[in-house]
Amino acid sequence: MSKDVKKVLVIPGDGIGTEVTAEAVNVLKKVCKTHEIPLDIDYADLGGIAYDKCGTPFPAETLEKARQSDAILLGAVGGPKWEALDYSIRPERGLLGIRKELDLFANLRPAKTFAVLAGASSLKEHLVAGLDIMIIRELTSGIYFGQPRGVETLPNGEQRGFNTEEYTTSQVKRIAKVAFEIAGSRAKNLCSIDKANVLEVTEMWRNILTAENVNYKDIKLSHMYVDNAAMQLVRSPKQFDVIVTNNLFGDILSDIAAMLTGSLGMLPSASLGALREDGKRYALYEPVHGSAPDIAGKGIANPLATILSVAMMLKYSFNNSKAAKSVEDAVERVLNKGFRTADIYTPDSDASKKLFTKEMGEAVLSEL
Ligand code: IPM
Ligand code: MG
Repeated sequence: MSKDVKKVLVIPGDGIGTEVTAEAVNVLKKVCKTHEIPLDIDYADLGGIAYDKCGTPFPAETLEKARQSDAILLGAVGGPKWEALDYSIRPERGLLGIRKELDLFANLRPAKTFAVLAGASSLKEHLVAGLDIMIIRELTSGIYFGQPRGVETLPNGEQRGFNTEEYTTSQVKRIAKVAFEIAGSRAKNLCSIDKANVLEVTEMWRNILTAENVNYKDIKLSHMYVDNAAMQLVRSPKQFDVIVTNNLFGDILSDIAAMLTGSLGMLPSASLGALREDGKRYALYEPVHGSAPDIAGKGIANPLATILSVAMMLKYSFNNSKAAKSVEDAVERVLNKGFRTADIYTPDSDASKKLFTKEMGEAVLSEL
């Protein structure tokens, strides 16, 4: 194991972001100590809190610190307090900005059901028990960033709003490569999701995926239209192994997939950049859920998605699958003991015990 110090930048952000990252940092510290991973933790602001302090959701200092980090752990950004601000300075611009600046193009969103939580899903238990999907979402191109964009006023006084869905060959090829490789490490089934019957750009996407398949002959590639995919995800989600899709479709489908597992509060994510010349890549780890302003400050948020994001950090940035597994196993044991935060708590179940955010963090720590 490499003894070089791992620099982790923690960006708590807004709302429950501060509460959940605090617990995840405790877990990170403990697991790194056990596995002898030297750790150097620093903090930075992003989103609404950064806007309040410095007038911008994405301060230059945060970008500078991010560039010097080996991995970033992010809570969440946004909240009603900042919703009236101009688009260019909204908290979400901070998140999109850091993704773009670090070129974090590959967003990995696993949706895995913990056995004891299958009953918490809104779908029938047999449909989600054993579910294990990896959604790979392209994160730094497509309609989120395409130009031109905006709202203009026409001569007749009407407004015209427009955004641009765009992909280049290389942008599709690099996300395809990540998807084929990850599919290769799993059940070797890759489903690419598009709207090729209507949108030229996604027809191009489909053709590139098909062409890339020749380099990964052991992977079974299929294609599905996004409307059908949304339906199939709630009809029979276990048919999927790895899904690859564009930025916008990935945003939507990953929320659906998350809910299949019982709670958005359980789902981690990794956003990975390209391999740099020094052999490292930028990487940001965050829960899939948002800042949940309605419960912020109450100490009831579920820290497990952020704790599981730490596991992804250990695996993808520190190449330490053993340490990653120890975190995942600790979470599983805590759940098996019946410990639940409010979002996954079912009052009628006999053995379960409702915990606050802090208590849940401590329960994981004591299982580590
Ligand atoms: C996500 C979020 C973000 C996105 C928002 C907060 C900008 O929904 O990470 O899925 O749309 O990418
Ligand atoms: Mg989203």
